[in-house]
Amino acid sequence: MQILTSTAELRARLRTEPNIVFVPTMGNLHQGHLDLMHLARAHGSCVVASIFVNPLQFGPNEDFDRYPRTFAADCEKLTGLVDVLFAPSVTELYPIQQTVFVEPPSVANQLCGANRPGHFRGMATVVLKLFNLVQPHIAVFGQKDYQQLHIIRQMVTQFNLPIQIIGGATVRAEDGLALSSRNQYLNNEQRAEAASLFRTLNHLRDALLQGESDINALEQAAIDGLTARGWQVDYLTVRNQSDLLPATQHECVILAAAKLGNTRLLDNVEVNLPKA
Ligand code: PAF
Repeated sequence: MQILTSTAELRARLRTEPNIVFVPTMGNLHQGHLDLMHLARAHGSCVVASIFVNPLQFGPNEDFDRYPRTFAADCEKLTGLVDVLFAPSVTELYPIQQTVFVEPPSVANQLCGANRPGHFRGMATVVLKLFNLVQPHIAVFGQKDYQQLHIIRQMVTQFNLPIQIIGGATVRAEDGLALSSRNQYLNNEQRAEAASLFRTLNHLRDALLQGESDINALEQAAIDGLTARGWQVDYLTVRNQSDLLPATQHECVILAAAKLGNTRLLDNVEVNLPKA
C-alpha cells in the first residue's frame, strides 16, 4: 500500500490507472469500513482509500478536535486491502479558504441535518473534491449513513459525474448492533441495550409488512418504547427510499438516530411494501 499525502503525488500516481474504485473515510476504521474495501476490490483493479477528518462537515460546537484519529492502526488494517491510501492534511486539501460549496437538496436539513446545520454541505463539498482528485470509476459508501448516501447519489446524478456509486450493506455485531466508530463510547450496560435500536426498527418493519397502515402511530410506539428503555430519540421515521420524504411510496426505509447517554447511534432498515 502506498501512502500519499499530497494532491500532486496522488494525481501523478493515479494518472494511468484505468479502473479506480474509491472508498473515502474519516479513519478510525472498523470491520464495516474493511468490508467496504473488500467490496471495492471486487469491483476494480486499483483500490484507493482516503482518511481525512473533514473540518467542513463539523459544526463549531461539534467534536472535530476530539474525533478519534488512529492513523497507525488504520494503516495496519488497510495494508494488503488497498493499493493507495490518500491521507492529506487540512491545508493540503484546503490550501485556500473554501468559499464554494455543494448545496445539497433540502432534505439535507432534515433527519441528521436538522441538528447539524451545514453538515451535509461540508460532506458533499469534500466528497466532490476527493472525487475530482481521485477520479474513480466507482465509489463505495456504507448504507448505514443512509442520508449521506442519498445526498451523494443526488450529487453524482445532478452534476453528471461519471462515477458509479455502490452502497455497502451495514455490518452488524452478532446481536444486530450496526458497527460504528461511536460504539466504543458505550459502557457495558449501554452496549447490551444498544441492539434494541435495530430490533425496534425490525419490529416496525414487520408491522408494516403485516399491513398495519397507521405509520404515525407505529413511529410513535417505537419512539415511546425506546424512550422507556432510556434512549433519547432524535428521530425515528418511515421515509421513501427515493427522496427521503415522509413515506408515500412502496419502497420505504425506516431511519433512526437515538442517543444512549452521550453516544448517538444511527441505523436504518429498508422495507418494500407489497403493491396492492
Ligand atoms: O462517512 C464519512 O466517513 C464521511 O462523511 C466522508 C464520506 C468520508 C466525507 O468526509
